[in-house]
Amino acid sequence: MQGVLLTEHGGPEVLAAAEIPEPETTGKVLVELRTAGINRRDALIREGIGPGYRPRLPVILGSDGAGIRRDTGEEVIVLPSLRWGDSQRCASDSFAVLGGGPDGGTYAELVALPEENLYPKPKHLAWAEAGALSLSGLTAYRALFTVGDLRAGQTVVILGAGSGVSLIALQLAVKVGARVAVTSSSQDKLNLAQELGAVAGVDYTQPDWELHLRDEIGEADLVLDSVGSTLQESVMLLRPGGAVLSMGGTGAGGIVDGFDIRTLYLKHKRILGTAMGSPTDFAGFLDMVADGDIDPVIDSVYPLDEVAEAHSQLDANQRFGKIVLSTA
Ligand SMILES: NC(=O)c1ccc[n+]([C@@H]2O[C@H](COP(=O)([O-])OP(=O)(O)OC[C@H]3O[C@@H](n4cnc5c(N)ncnc54)[C@H](OP(=O)(O)O)[C@@H]3O)[C@@H](O)[C@H]2O)c1
Repeated sequence: MQGVLLTEHGGPEVLAAAEIPEPETTGKVLVELRTAGINRRDALIREGIGPGYRPRLPVILGSDGAGIRRDTGEEVIVLPSLRWGDSQRCASDSFAVLGGGPDGGTYAELVALPEENLYPKPKHLAWAEAGALSLSGLTAYRALFTVGDLRAGQTVVILGAGSGVSLIALQLAVKVGARVAVTSSSQDKLNLAQELGAVAGVDYTQPDWELHLRDEIGEADLVLDSVGSTLQESVMLLRPGGAVLSMGGTGAGGIVDGFDIRTLYLKHKRILGTAMGSPTDFAGFLDMVADGDIDPVIDSVYPLDEVAEAHSQLDANQRFGKIVLSTA
């Protein structure tokens, strides 16, 4: 089959499609993939930077995917959480994310997965949309609802308006009737986010952006923070008792400098860590998508043999929505 095997860490140029062996299928279901969404995680593993992103090589990257079950012909999308376990509070010790090895990921024509990782593809979604949905949607759903308990009428600030997780989070939060504000360095992305339902947007490169945003929208119940280095600003945005949903470290390698702990505890604010999600979270997310009024935002679709170009676009941070690989 055609697939992308990561054999060394590096820039986008280390990625290329080639003929590779088909996956081992014992106890698994074979899926003929149509599309595979690209996530920031894939680039972190490609570079091999940071804890959790240096698997034993080679690996087939890719956590998101949609395709056709070879045994039944059913159209499916992939749940990328492997071996979550029984607790809804956190994942088991044997938890893994698809595409981080040793299980082969979705940058390939075929993937073999346990049956419990396959869910019916939402009928209204095109292949590119379905294949781009899983990891970002699962993460956003768990953060906002399972961990953050977001309700109608509450205010949530979502950092990084154009990213995969932030855009689906924006769409989910708007759907339940929350007020959503976003941040971005790009006025175009802020405008597009407001077209998707955000009530306000602020350029985080401006000094005191968090104070300006708080003046505009008031205090937030939740801040979805995928940047990490922004933790102080996120805490300053919260109302007393509010929570930062910490789910990424895009900024400054996830290192937080100069955080004043008193700004947290004196106002009963909380920082809640969250990563990926359980099968229950995924089912809840798909229920929200099934109505047909949430369409994942797709920036661009590349054929599998242009995987290096697709990763270059991700690295350049020039996207509004998901970048997707197509095997068709
Ligand atoms: N916990 C989990 O399970 C989980 C799941 C998925 C992703 N993640 C993590 O979440 C993060 C987001 O991933 P992603 O693929 O959705 O997006 P991403 O490609 O990492 O982009 C995030 C966005 O953050 C914004 N940003 C960057 N530096 C910033 C800063 N200093 N201040 C404010 N905003 C900044 C940028 O927005 P603009 O371009 O608009 O300026 C960028 O587009 C990554 O760190 C990823 O590893 C975690």
